[in-house]
Amino acid sequence: MQTNPETGETGVNEVVSIERHGPVALVALDNPPVNAASHALRTGLCQAIERLQDDPDIAAIGLYAKGRTFIAGADIREFGKPPLDPWLPEVCNFLENSAKPIACILHGTTLGGGLEVALSCHARVALKGTKAGFPEVTLGILPGAGGTQRAPRLAGIPAALDMITSGRQISAEEALKYGLVDRLSENNPRESALQAAQDLIDGKLAVRKTGDLDVVPDDAACQAMREKLARSQPLLYSPHKCVDAVEASRLPIAEGLKEERRLYDACMDSPQRAGLIHAFFAERAVAKIPEAAAKPRDIASIGVIGGGTMGSGIATAALLAGFPVTLSERDQAGLDRGTAAISRNLDGAVKRGKLSPEGREAILASKLVTSTDLAALSQADLIIEAVFEEMSVKREIFETLDRIAKPGAVLASNTSYLDINEIAAMTNRPEDVIGLHFFSPAHVMRLLEVVVAEKTSAETVATGFALAKALKKIAVRSGVCDGFIGNRIMTFYKKSADYMMMDGASPEEIDRAMTGFGFAMGPYQVADLAGLDISWAANKRRAATRPAQERYIPIADRLCENGWFGRKSGQGFYLYDSEGSRPNPAALEIIEEERARARIAPRGFTSDEIVSRFMTAMILEATRVLEEGIALRPIDIDAVFLFGYGFPRFRGGPMHVADLIGARELVRRIEDYAAEDSYYWRVPDLLRKMAESGESFAYMNDRG
Ligand code: 3HC
Ligand code: NAI
Repeated sequence: MQTNPETGETGVNEVVSIERHGPVALVALDNPPVNAASHALRTGLCQAIERLQDDPDIAAIGLYAKGRTFIAGADIREFGKPPLDPWLPEVCNFLENSAKPIACILHGTTLGGGLEVALSCHARVALKGTKAGFPEVTLGILPGAGGTQRAPRLAGIPAALDMITSGRQISAEEALKYGLVDRLSENNPRESALQAAQDLIDGKLAVRKTGDLDVVPDDAACQAMREKLARSQPLLYSPHKCVDAVEASRLPIAEGLKEERRLYDACMDSPQRAGLIHAFFAERAVAKIPEAAAKPRDIASIGVIGGGTMGSGIATAALLAGFPVTLSERDQAGLDRGTAAISRNLDGAVKRGKLSPEGREAILASKLVTSTDLAALSQADLIIEAVFEEMSVKREIFETLDRIAKPGAVLASNTSYLDINEIAAMTNRPEDVIGLHFFSPAHVMRLLEVVVAEKTSAETVATGFALAKALKKIAVRSGVCDGFIGNRIMTFYKKSADYMMMDGASPEEIDRAMTGFGFAMGPYQVADLAGLDISWAANKRRAATRPAQERYIPIADRLCENGWFGRKSGQGFYLYDSEGSRPNPAALEIIEEERARARIAPRGFTSDEIVSRFMTAMILEATRVLEEGIALRPIDIDAVFLFGYGFPRFRGGPMHVADLIGARELVRRIEDYAAEDSYYWRVPDLLRKMAESGESFAYMNDRG
């Protein structure tokens, strides 16, 4: 490779170069965007170090990375593919055994395999602002390139256990306190590398081989962590293996590394690993939309109409992201309720350490303006309507907004189900109208469905996505239909739960089966929490258009007729009191009565059957949503459920689960269930085609 006359760097390959300064050699990594330890990086790094081993002019090496970060981990894109030599563990061992001492500079987000590379060097310097950590557990694996063996040798078992089982990122200062790095620097990576390598030569920085250090065994810490994880993460696989691996650090390093490899391979083979990595990519894939190249409009101020559950949450999210917000309500009482809710939300943010008490005061004093007059929103760059879910109320609002909003303002509705095309048509600027569907509580939930109507302009869509980014939310593009991606699919699969309830399963059995699958809550716990009155209103609205063939289960409506709306009224499917919640005997009686009325002899359902019917229903409707082009790709649907509906992250999302089951088996199940109800259980054309061709949803994601 050639030497660059301007920088003096000699390329080893396309991502690694060497630069010589007297007795110091700098090895620079340059593999944008995050310097992932790809095959090219591993090969180039080994070649560079090898080349310097026998160089009599070189006494020490400074290893650093260009760009925004030191290595942010193994290249996740290589997971699940045939391994390419050299593996990262070999690279780390090779670095540790280098005859020339290596000082490593950590900057940006030095994560996973990146931290493992650093720990294998002979001294470490972190730039101020560095974040370091082992996020492997969030991907269903464990640090597999010596991290579980070297971190305890430098930081001790308790600190290593905490970092490795939580995936928590620590600051440069914490890394120094733990002994993971030797010093901090305020210089840039290259200068720091030059200085650190010279200091190794001058004896100002000690040369240590991490693998030679002793570990102080700590059985009590390992046992305590095991017990904690058994309680907090009983369904997950890799956190428990992390503890086993860290415990093995009491062995000589070679044996400990072997044990780490064995446990790492077991994690790699687990379906949870595939699910979690799918979720990682889902979070990023959803940003790839047809409007990605359009320029978002500048958003300096936000208007929110309606200070109820959603409006107050949306206003809180915007205020926490630094936007000035004008909140509008029908009357002063509405404004007072909205402001009180925002104030409580901000208190929560202070409690969770996300906001300082002074920050809270400053927001309430100067960022939030309230008015009962919609004209107060005339200068807002983006206005989000969150009033009652009634078209007539929305009409009045949008007709007024059309008159008073400044030209170019984005006009958004937070409607859960209503037609955004119809709302856009109430204005003379349909290109500026969009659905921004937040999830409750809006200042906490990460999902934002960006609903694109027929005439919505590309700039308006791009603005919706830019807003989500500013609010640290995950935006998913949806087309217009009743309920958009998430609520439409939920409305459908919720019926499958109701059918099982009517046919013999108790709400508690159904909830237990679904939490056993990994959902944070079962469908009846969710219904009670959201308020049964909401679906009661939707049921009434749909009653006139409900197809005659559709089986209708009136149990939840009957609970509502008694004023039992769920948690907020003290009872619903469950009873709620100071001792917690338990099945509501009165609800069970109503279920019995309805079964008797419909002449149904109840039968038993196993957890497996409940999960199978529930998931099959979810996938069935999701396939239709895809077929109709409401969702761009299967992975968008996965993101909606992962970030908006508490779908277990380790399962990757409904379409990922669908691929594990296989289209052929799904068709077989639907046809089997159709023997009972051929209206509800109909095979979507796309699924049938997939069953015939063998195509998977993953393939459609890759194809784009
Ligand atoms: N491998 C491959 N690609 C990666 C990657 C990785 N480890 N980390 C990030 N990327 C990609 C992203 O997919 C994205 O690609 P795209 O632009 O095509 O969508 C691009 O890099 C930029 O990433 P982000 O959008 O996430 O950028 P941010 O600046 O917001 O965040 C980050 C940067 C904090 C490094 C974040 O990307 C991240 O957390 N990455 C994952 C880190 C990780 O989990 N590392 C451990 C890997 S496992 C491991 O090391 C195993 C070892 O023990 C053997
Ligand atoms: P809510 O009933 O809690 O709040 C609605 C608020 O709008 C009330 O405070 C009311 O006074 C106010 N309002 C009514 N007419 C108004 C007008 N003309 N001008 C100003 N304010 C007016 O309702 P919620 O739950 O906040 O829902 C609002 C919207 O958000 C609905 O469209 C709903 O479908 C949607 N949504 C609700 C979710 C939820 O979980 N509650 C989730 C996502 C969307």
